[in-house]
Amino acid sequence: MSTNSIDSLLHETRRFPPTPEFAANAVAGAELYESAKADPVGFWADQARELLHWHKPFTSVLDWSDAPFAKWFADGELNVTYNCLDRHVLAGNGERIAIHWEGEPGDSRSISYAELTEQVKRAANVMAGLGIGQGDRVAVYMPVIPEAVVAMLAIARLGAVHSVVFGGFSSESLRSRIDDASAKLVVTADGGWRKGKVFPLKAAVDGALANGTSTVKNVLVVRRGENEVQWTEGRDLWWHDELAAADAEHEAQAFEAENPLFILYTSGTTGKPKGILHSSGGYLTQVASTHKNVFDLHPETDVYWCTADVGWITGHSYVVYGPLANGATQLMYEGTPDTPHSGRWWELIEKYKVSIFYTAPTAIRSFMKLGRQIPQSFDLSSLRLLGSVGEPINPEAWIWYRDAIGGGSTPIVDTWWQTETGAIMISALPGITALKPGSAQVPIPGIKIDILGEDGTRVDPPNGGLLVVSEPWPAMLRGIWGDPDRYRETYWSRFSGPDSEGKETWKYFAGDGAHVDSDGDIVLLGRVDDVMNISGHRLSTQEIESALVSHPMVAEAAVVGAADEATGQAVVAFVILRADQEAAQTVEEASTLLRAHVAQQIGAIARPRQVFVVAELPKTRSGKIMRRLLQDVAEGRELGDTTTLTDASVMTIISDRLK
Ligand code: WTA
Repeated sequence: MSTNSIDSLLHETRRFPPTPEFAANAVAGAELYESAKADPVGFWADQARELLHWHKPFTSVLDWSDAPFAKWFADGELNVTYNCLDRHVLAGNGERIAIHWEGEPGDSRSISYAELTEQVKRAANVMAGLGIGQGDRVAVYMPVIPEAVVAMLAIARLGAVHSVVFGGFSSESLRSRIDDASAKLVVTADGGWRKGKVFPLKAAVDGALANGTSTVKNVLVVRRGENEVQWTEGRDLWWHDELAAADAEHEAQAFEAENPLFILYTSGTTGKPKGILHSSGGYLTQVASTHKNVFDLHPETDVYWCTADVGWITGHSYVVYGPLANGATQLMYEGTPDTPHSGRWWELIEKYKVSIFYTAPTAIRSFMKLGRQIPQSFDLSSLRLLGSVGEPINPEAWIWYRDAIGGGSTPIVDTWWQTETGAIMISALPGITALKPGSAQVPIPGIKIDILGEDGTRVDPPNGGLLVVSEPWPAMLRGIWGDPDRYRETYWSRFSGPDSEGKETWKYFAGDGAHVDSDGDIVLLGRVDDVMNISGHRLSTQEIESALVSHPMVAEAAVVGAADEATGQAVVAFVILRADQEAAQTVEEASTLLRAHVAQQIGAIARPRQVFVVAELPKTRSGKIMRRLLQDVAEGRELGDTTTLTDASVMTIISDRLK
C-alpha cells in the first residue's frame, strides 16, 4: 500500500453505527462477545452443537497437546455433506433453492436443496464405484458451475479429500498439484465460459496427465463448454452418463471430526505452493458460525452472493460450506463481471434480489473507475449487507461501495482471513459494531489476535507490528500436506516459545503487517513477506522467478509486487538474458515472450504487468538481490539507500532505462 493510503487509513474518523432497525433484527447480539470472552473454547463447543448435526456427539473440545497440531471435537463424528444437504431436506426445507446459477452466456438453473442432495448422492455413488473412499484425494478442476459444488460435496460425503485447482491455473500447475497429493481421480469439464468464449479445461487435464506416471485412474468430465475434447478410453468418463446410471440413494456415513476434508494449494514464500490441509468438524463449525453471524444470515429470506471462484478458499468456505451448512439460498455466476456488459453483476443483483453481497476490493475499485451511472441504472434496493475480502480496502473504495452499491445505508463487513485460517478471523459484526472505513476492526468472538513488534512483545495502540493469532481456532489449518516441518517453520517458529513465566506459548504468524489504532481497531497493512496480492490472489515472487528462469532464454530473474491502482499489486519482473540469447530478439520481443511464458507456466493471473530486460540485478555484498530497490523503481520512486550494493551504478542504469 502507498504511504498516502496508509495515512488516510490511520486518520479515519468516520463511524457508521448500525441503524436501530438493522441492530434489532440482527442474528448476532453482544452476548456472543461476552460468552466467547468468558470461555472461548466453550463458545466454540456451543457453536458446534448449535449449528451442526453430530452423528456421535463430542466430549473433547480442543486437544492442543501436540501443538502446533490441533484437534477439535476429536471424539465426535459427523458427515460434512449430510450437514450441508440431507438434514435441510429432512427438516422440510427440500424445496428451498440452494443455488440460483447463471451461466455467462445467460443460461440459468435454480436448484433446490432436494435436487442438489440427489445429485450429490448420485455423484457419490459414481465415485465410490470408481474406488474412491475415505482419505483418497480427488482433484477438481472446474468452471463456476453447480457441478463443481456437487463434486466437492460428493467427495466430502465419502470421507475423501478434495483438492480444487482454480480453473485459471495452467496444465503445469495442475500437474504439480495432482502429483503432490497423489490424486486418484480428476473431476473436470470440457470447458467453461469466460469473456464470451469457451476456455478448455479437459485439454489441460490431458496435458497434466500426459507423462503417464500419474496416480490418476479416471477423469470425470462434465459437459459445459460443448467444445471438442480428446478422449482416453477406459480413463475418461462423461459425468452425465455416469450420474444418470447411478443409484439416487446414498446413505451418508459418519467420520471423525478430524477426518481431512480438503487440501487447497496456496503460494508461500518459496517457489513451491503449499497444500494447506483442512479437516471436518472444526472447519465446518467456524465457517457456519461466521457465515451466519458476520453476514447476518436469515436463511428463509436472504439471497446471498459471494463472487469468489470455487477454486479459492473464499469459494470453499463462503460459496460451498458456510452457506450450505446454514441452509442459505445463494447465487452463483460463471463468468466475468463485464460480459456481455459492465453492468452484469448489478443486473444479476436486480434479477435475483440479492440481499447479501460479498466481493473483493479489486472489483470494487474497477467499478469505481467506470463510474456510478452503471450501478445506478439497476435496482439494487434488495441489498442490505455488503462484504469485502482479499486485500485491504481503502476508505475511498469503502465509501464508494456503500454509497454507489449499498444505497448509502448498508453496513460493510471487511473480513480478514486466509487460506490457512479457513474462516473469517477479523471482522465487524454488522448489528453491533460501529463501522470504520478501511479497518477490519475486531477479532470475531472466540478468536484471539495480537499485534507484535519484531521482538515479539505486544505493541500498545496506536502502533504497528506483525499480526499473530494467539490461541488455536477451530478452522485452523491442520498442516501442510506431506510437509510437517514446513508447517512448523512457516507459521509457528517466529514468535512461539516460553513466555516470561517459562510457559510454552504458540503464536501463529500470519505474514501480515497490521496497525492497531487508539480505539483498538485493527487496520491491515498487507503482507510483510515475499507473497504478493494481485487482485486479491496470492502469488509468491519466487514462484514467478522460478517460472521465468525455466525459460531457456533467462539467466536470472527478480520479481517484485509493485503498487497498482486497479489490482492492488502487480507483478513486475526484471530479467537478465543468457549471453547467447541477447542478440536473438529485441528487448520488447523478449519481454512479450516471457510474459506469455509465465502465464503458460502458472496461469494468466501470474502474467507480469511488465518484464524488464536488464544487464545486471542489484545485489548486496553477500549476493542477495535487493528487491526493495527494484520495488522503488517499479513504483516510480526515488531510489532508496544503495550503500550496501556491490555496484550502485546498476540501479542508475536500470532506473534510467525505465524512464
Ligand atoms: C490478505 C483470502 C486486508 C492478507 C481469504 C492475507 C486481507 C491474504 C483481507 C490471504 C482483508 C485477506 N484486509 N488484507 N480484509 N483479507 N487479506 O489465502 O494479506 O487468498 O494474508 O485468503 O490476503 O489470502 P488468501
